[in-house]
Amino acid sequence: MIKVVAPMAGITDADFLNKVIPLGFDVATLGGYSLDAPTIEASRKIIERGRKEFDFPLDEIFSHIEGEVASIKKFNSDVKVSANVRATTPQPIIEVGNINDLDIVEINCHCRQEEILAIGCGQEMLKRPDLGDFISEVVDNVSCEVSVKIRANVDGVDTLKIASIIDDAGVDYLHVDAMKMGVFDADYGLLKEICNNVQIQVIGNNSVNNKLNAQKMIETGVDGFSIARGVISGNLDFNLSDF
Ligand SMILES: Cc1cc2nc3c(=O)[nH]c(=O)nc-3n(C[C@H](O)[C@H](O)[C@H](O)COP(=O)(O)O)c2cc1C
Repeated sequence: MIKVVAPMAGITDADFLNKVIPLGFDVATLGGYSLDAPTIEASRKIIERGRKEFDFPLDEIFSHIEGEVASIKKFNSDVKVSANVRATTPQPIIEVGNINDLDIVEINCHCRQEEILAIGCGQEMLKRPDLGDFISEVVDNVSCEVSVKIRANVDGVDTLKIASIIDDAGVDYLHVDAMKMGVFDADYGLLKEICNNVQIQVIGNNSVNNKLNAQKMIETGVDGFSIARGVISGNLDFNLSDF
């Protein structure tokens, strides 16, 4: 079972990840980072209204990520490092995917902040008619593994169809925030359907903050699970080594 620290903008930097990796994580996710002018501008607007975000200018972001990867590898050489990223075109994502020692580049098709949606990024990517081509272009031009992080149950989006497009695009991981509006638990039924329909590795996400929920997630057939809010305290109430 692959255990992943999920990305949290403004929080999951190398210092934070180095503190929580020893809890037993196999993959540590940096970011999310904005990589081009439109996404960087959107991030700044999000910061202006008081939400946490990483804020790096275009001429620093790539070397910053490289430095963060090196800081994690220095203390946790066995962990895979992933970078969750947002951009309006594949090119900057490809640049991150060729950073030395980065193991996974994760395309963010998940963010739902209105400034990101307004430029067609985050979960709005799920509505792009060329989503498969966008992802394939990244896959074909990077030296590391590729993950795509999606939000499930987005209005007007058929999650199973999207999972199949991502499967066909040749990525290594499909990372699913199995959120369901109005429910304080993951959509385990949908995760099970996704796992039955795709060949690639599925990382399930949402509400893994106790042992019972971790077990329910695993029973859907996922290859791994990720945790965001549950690691902020650095103090989960179960042992990752139990799974
Ligand atoms: C403060 C905060 C920031 C987040 N930032 C990102 C992000 O930058 N990229 C992303 O893909 N998901 C982001 N997420 C979503 C989490 O990775 C995760 O999908 C979500 O919180 C559900 O998982 P959980 O129940 O384990 O927290 C963020 C979540 C929180 C709470």
